[in-house]
Amino acid sequence: MRNLLLIILTVNCLKISTQVTYFQDIAPILTENCTSCHQDSDIGPMPLTSYDQVASYASMIKFVTDTELMPPFIADVQKVHYINERSISDEDKKTIASWIANGIPRGDSLFNDKPVAGSAVEYDTTICMSERFEHYGIYYDQYQVFPLPIELSKGKVIKDIRFKPGNREIVRSANISLATKGSSLKMDQWDPRYGYYAYGSTGFTSSYPEWYSWKPHTKGLALIDQERLYLPPDSEILMHIHYGPYGEIQTDSSCIYLAYDDEPTNISTLQNVPFVHTAFLKDTFVLEANKKHRISTSFSLPVDAEIRSITPLAHLLCRSWEVFAVLPDKTSVHLLVIDDWDFHWREKYIFQNPIKLPAGSKIYATAIYDNTKENPYNPADPPTTMRKGPHMFDENFICYFEFESKQIENSFIDKPFVTSEKELSSIKFHINKEGDYIIVAHSLDDLGKTKIASQNFTQGTHRIRSSKLSKLKGRYVISLIRNSEVLDTWWLTIF
Ligand code: HEC
Repeated sequence: MRNLLLIILTVNCLKISTQVTYFQDIAPILTENCTSCHQDSDIGPMPLTSYDQVASYASMIKFVTDTELMPPFIADVQKVHYINERSISDEDKKTIASWIANGIPRGDSLFNDKPVAGSAVEYDTTICMSERFEHYGIYYDQYQVFPLPIELSKGKVIKDIRFKPGNREIVRSANISLATKGSSLKMDQWDPRYGYYAYGSTGFTSSYPEWYSWKPHTKGLALIDQERLYLPPDSEILMHIHYGPYGEIQTDSSCIYLAYDDEPTNISTLQNVPFVHTAFLKDTFVLEANKKHRISTSFSLPVDAEIRSITPLAHLLCRSWEVFAVLPDKTSVHLLVIDDWDFHWREKYIFQNPIKLPAGSKIYATAIYDNTKENPYNPADPPTTMRKGPHMFDENFICYFEFESKQIENSFIDKPFVTSEKELSSIKFHINKEGDYIIVAHSLDDLGKTKIASQNFTQGTHRIRSSKLSKLKGRYVISLIRNSEVLDTWWLTIF
C-alpha cells in the first residue's frame, strides 16, 4: 500500500511538473510580479528577464516567494486593498516549486516582445535641471534633490507627466515632490554642489511627497485614465533622484514634461497633507534609549471627505503603523496596517477605491518605535535618545493623507502650499457665476469654524485678504460654498 501511494504521488508530481516550463508558466508569473523591479537598470539587484538569469536564481526565487520577502509589500491587505499592492498567490508559489522540482525546464518561447507604443501626448512645458549634476563615480549610491522653481500665475491641472532621465547609466529612480517656492532654500544652502543630498525624504515636510514617482519601467502615459494632478501657483518641483553606483564619473541633467488640461470640467484635484505630524502632538517627540514607544494622535473631519491615498513616513526605529477611521455611527474603517515596518519599502498606498468618510469621522494613527538593542535596524549602538528630524539618526512620525476635491461648476480655490515659512494671508478663487458665496475655514483640531467671507461676488477671479487668515495655525479645510453647496475644498496644514 505504501509503495503504491508513493508511486501514485510520484506520478502525480510528474504530471504536474512536466507541464510547468519557464516560458509557459514562470515567465508570466515573474512579469506580473517581479520584473517591474528586476530588469536592467531598475532597483532590483539583478534582472529576471531571461531563462538563464531566472534559472541561476531558481532556488532563491523559491525561497523569497515562499517567505513572502518578494515581491516586497509591507502593508496588510486583509482589510483594505490598494491599487499598488503586490503579492504572489499560493498557486504561483506551487508552480515555482514544481518547476524547480522538475529540473527548471525552459520550454518553448510563446512570446514576441512587442515594443510598447510611444505616447502621442503633446507636452506643454519641459522643466529640466538647470545645471549638470556630477556623480562621484565611486561605486556608491547617491541621492540628490534638485529644486526647480516654476513660473505660474495660476494653478494648473496636469493631465500627463513624464520624467526623462538625462543619463540612463546612473539614474535609477526619481521621486517628484512639490513645495512652496523657496522653501527648500535652507536645505539647498548646506550642500555646495548643485541640488542637495537627502535620503528618504526631501529633508523637510512642507512638500507634497511622491506627487509623481518614476522607475525605469514607467512607460508611455504616466497618469491613469481620468487621473489628474494639481500644480499650485508659486510652487517648486523637487526632483529627488537616486543615482546608482558607477565606477566612473558621470553627469546627468534630467527633465520632466507636463501636459496641461486647460479645460478641466468637474474634475477632482488631489491634495496631500501631513495631518499626522510630530508638530501636532500634544507632547514633544522624544524617543528615549532602551525603550519601546507608542506614539498616537487623532484628528476629526468637519466635512465629508474622500481619501485617495496614505503615505506614512518614519525611519529605522519604527516597527509598525496602524491608521483607522471611526465613523459617526461608530463603525471603523481600516486605512493602513503595517506590522513589520521597513523603511526601505515605504511608499504611498493608493486605495483601490477612494475611502469616503462622512463629516464627523475621526482618524486615529499609531506608530510603535523600538529604540532598544533588539531592533536590528537601530542605527545607534548602543541606543541613544532620538528626536524628530530628516536624517537617519533622527526619527519621524508623519503620515500624509491625500484628499480628493471635486470642483463643481468649474469654480475653485487656488491651493498653494502654506507652510511655516509662508503664512496664509489671502485666498484666491475663481467662480463661474455671479452669486452669494461663503468661504469658511473649519479646524480639524477643535472643529471650530472661521468665516473668511460671505458676500456677493461677480463671475471671475477674486482674491480676499483677511486678518483672520493669518491667525490660522493647525489643520484646516477651507470650503467655497454657494447655496449650501460645497463647490471646492482645500485641505491644508499651517505649521
Ligand atoms: C518593488 C521592487 C521589487 C519587486 C516587485 C521585486 N523585487 Fe526582488 N528585490 C528588490 C530589491 C530592491 C532587492 C534587494 C533587496 C535588498 O538588498 O534588501 C530584491 C532582492 C531580491 C532577491 C535577492 C537577491 C540577492 O542577491 O540577495 C531575489 C531572489 C528577488 N529579489 C526575487 C524577486 C522575485 C522572484 C520577485 C517577484 C515575485 C521580486 N523579487 C519582486 C526589488 C523588487
